[in-house]
Amino acid sequence: MQRLMVTGGAGFIGSNFTRYMLEKYPDYFIVVYDKLTYAGRRENLQDVAERFGDRYAFVQGDICDAKQVEQTITDYKLDTIVNFAAETHVDRSLTEPGSFIQTDVYGTYVLLEAAKTHQLERYHQVSTDEVYGQVLTGRSAETDPYEPRSPYSASKTAGDLMTLAYHASWGLPVTITRGANNVGPYQYPEKVVPLFATNAIDDQPLPVYGDGLQVRDYQYVLDHCEGIDVVLHRGKLGEIYNVGTGAEMTNIEMTRIVLATLGKPESLIKHVADRPGHDRRYALDVSKLRALGWKCHLTCAEAVAKTVRWYAENEAWWRPIKSGDLYKQYYERQYEKRLKAS
Ligand code: NAD
Ligand code: TYD
Repeated sequence: MQRLMVTGGAGFIGSNFTRYMLEKYPDYFIVVYDKLTYAGRRENLQDVAERFGDRYAFVQGDICDAKQVEQTITDYKLDTIVNFAAETHVDRSLTEPGSFIQTDVYGTYVLLEAAKTHQLERYHQVSTDEVYGQVLTGRSAETDPYEPRSPYSASKTAGDLMTLAYHASWGLPVTITRGANNVGPYQYPEKVVPLFATNAIDDQPLPVYGDGLQVRDYQYVLDHCEGIDVVLHRGKLGEIYNVGTGAEMTNIEMTRIVLATLGKPESLIKHVADRPGHDRRYALDVSKLRALGWKCHLTCAEAVAKTVRWYAENEAWWRPIKSGDLYKQYYERQYEKRLKAS
């Protein structure tokens, strides 16, 4: 395994993963294959292109386009696919589920089919803890049933199942990781931590859904990337591995850390109408991945604070996104009524 196709590599986690892998493995070659939706940005990889020009290439393409996927595998003699490409935001999946089914389900099938045709050494599916649905008590183990509740998590579940089906039916060498909520550099400011950090920097309200007592495991993105790396190199074929800190916090605790890190007042907190079908709690049992020698370096609190500091220091990255028309329209649709009513 030395020549990787990182699909969705211009997004948040994929760009961090690409940088991490090229730094760690001097003999690896990576092609980022990305459609560049609203969430994908060439800028996220600008330093990568400069530092690793001879071991890195970028191809703009859709994972649903079988012909282009196959051509890219052939052109670059790739041996592995790591699939990050997806529509990823739960709130958007509630208003536009079709694109989630298209990319997260059909696109996964296209990649699996290409991996089978070209007899790749590995297909790795980047999945999510959301496929377990909400877990009110205890922790989700890899053997727990799928109970997705949003169009996003239902689509990701279908991607997981298709991945496992290709392993069972044709022996395709697959692995799956299910990550908890990631935070870190280059996360599009629709997700809660970058949204709250950038709003707070501008003294804008922080729209907390409902009572804010929902529970999430906020892990630092590089801990997740390291987990995927460990599974790629030491994971068992056909197996699933959870990746997270293994501890959690409530959203209101996370919000207070954002404000405290920036020295902003709690009066910026606005409780707004809840997300429909909002999963109350996610919590992962990460012992299976730990048994492979992986360990998480940052706690949720450290991960959130470190992320907030990055947004404070990198306004040049997020200001152009937030001042764009696309983002403004999204923000208005998602929050204007909620904030007025709160
Ligand atoms: P993101 O939204 O930041 O990036 C997604 C990337 O995929 C973008 O670059 C986008 O352009 C690309 N993309 C979308 N549709 C595509 C298509 N049809 N063809 C090619 N490229 C396409 O997402 P992220 O937060 O980096 O998440 C990456 C993966 O990790 C996803 O599969 C997601 O389900 C999973 N995941 C995310 C989290 C999290 O907290 N963000 C947690 C666990 C798992
Ligand atoms: P999000 O970052 O959208 O990730 P996910 O829904 O995939 O876990 O949201 C994280 C948590 O923050 C989730 O419980 C919903 C909550 N949230 C808010 O309270 N307000 C917001 O504006 C957003 C976007 C999320």
